Amino acid sequence: MNMYIFVRASLFCLVLFIWSALIAQNSKENFLIWGLRGSNAKYGACKNRCRPPGSEPLPEGIVASTSNLEKRPLWGSPKNTNTSKSLFAVAVGIKQKKTVNEMVQRFLASDFVVMLFHYDGIVDEWQDFEWSNSVIHISTGNQTKWWFAKRFLHPDIVAEYDYIFLWDEDLGVENFNPDRYLSIVKDEGLQISQPALDISKSEVHHLITARGRRKNVHRRTYKLGTTGIHCDENSSAPPCTGWIEVMAPVFSKAAWRCVWYMIQNDLIHAWGLDMQLGYCAQGDRTKNVGVVDAEYIVHLGVPTLGESDNKSKAVSSGDTSRAESKETSHSQAIDKRIEVRRQSYYEYMIFKSRWKKAAEEDKCWVDPYSETKQGKQTTR
Ligand SMILES: *[C@@H]1O[C@H](CO)[C@@H](O)[C@H](O)[C@H]1NC(C)=O
Ligand SMILES: *[C@@H]1O[C@H](CO)[C@@H](O)[C@H](O)[C@H]1NC(C)=O
Ligand SMILES: *[C@@H]1O[C@H](CO)[C@@H](O)[C@H](O)[C@H]1NC(C)=O
Ligand SMILES: *[C@@H]1O[C@H](CO)[C@@H](O)[C@H](O)[C@H]1NC(C)=O
Repeated sequence: MNMYIFVRASLFCLVLFIWSALIAQNSKENFLIWGLRGSNAKYGACKNRCRPPGSEPLPEGIVASTSNLEKRPLWGSPKNTNTSKSLFAVAVGIKQKKTVNEMVQRFLASDFVVMLFHYDGIVDEWQDFEWSNSVIHISTGNQTKWWFAKRFLHPDIVAEYDYIFLWDEDLGVENFNPDRYLSIVKDEGLQISQPALDISKSEVHHLITARGRRKNVHRRTYKLGTTGIHCDENSSAPPCTGWIEVMAPVFSKAAWRCVWYMIQNDLIHAWGLDMQLGYCAQGDRTKNVGVVDAEYIVHLGVPTLGESDNKSKAVSSGDTSRAESKETSHSQAIDKRIEVRRQSYYEYMIFKSRWKKAAEEDKCWVDPYSETKQGKQTTR
């Protein structure tokens, strides 16, 4: 009897156990299914949602992933409802005040956002210009425009601007209209461009930058430059085609996003960058990179970054090589320029070897220009 009860009780327990186990199992599944069903709609749509790293805890609609350089009023709505569509950034020293003033006025008149990178630490002396409060001043001593650009023109910050002008300070803009320039580069599909140089008044280093008169733009040079590189109509690589010099580059938004990544934090003279710009041309560099003849500038060749207080010519914020050809009377200035040039060259070698190593190591990367014979490096 006792035994019987025991067995029955055991059986009951067993059944109970199995049943509860089943229930548990079921409800677990139910729970799981519910869970899945509940978030299913979200789940499918969200799985591959590309969110800026770090923003995942936030609802997507509140994430402001890009910014701009517009000033905002402390109260009320902005006075100027025209949002600027392009950005003009220039590295400046007070010694080029007059030239820079002309440039800035021209770009402001075309509704550009203007940024001055002060490499000589002098900001107050620009205050006497009416426009001084309408531009953005960034001041850090002894830095090149590439240093500034890498730090203050992140593509997410300048995402609203269709074109980024990143210029040296020693450029005459008498024959340059920013609006007309923009309309030409848009028509011609130029992603990376520069205005041509007026050869009668400019320091010209590469013949591809010399102004032609026959067309609005040109994309190659047929001439032998001072560099001794041979260019003809079959040339397919820089510096014969797909190339600009970098004293007055203009980048489309997409091209800038690419170029920004190419600029190395520690290589502030950016030598060698010009030869690789074609990789950022958003397609065929022989078509998307060009020089605009119709709107042209004068390259004065009098930049002052690195200049000693003596009247010697020194190095520019953009192209630090230029100073080399200048006469000088002061040995200290020579020393500095030699130092800067040596550093620039050293950085150039580093950049080249970094590129080579990266190209070898990235098994997924395909060099679109591997077939084309790379022009010899420019002698910058
Ligand atoms: C807005 O832009 C147009 C066209 O460029 C110009 O005529 C107008 O004066 C601008 N308005 C303001 C408030 O700047
Ligand atoms: C730039 O460097 C020079 C030489 O080292 C120094 O005399 C000068 O004060 C520096 N200028 C700024 C603004 O930092
Ligand atoms: C360019 O290529 C064409 C076709 O291959 C050839 O006939 C021509 O001679 C080449 N021109 C030069 C300057 O090498
Ligand atoms: C310019 O160079 C001369 C000659 O070396 C030197 O005596 C003078 O102090 C320098 N002037 C300035 C302002 O650095």
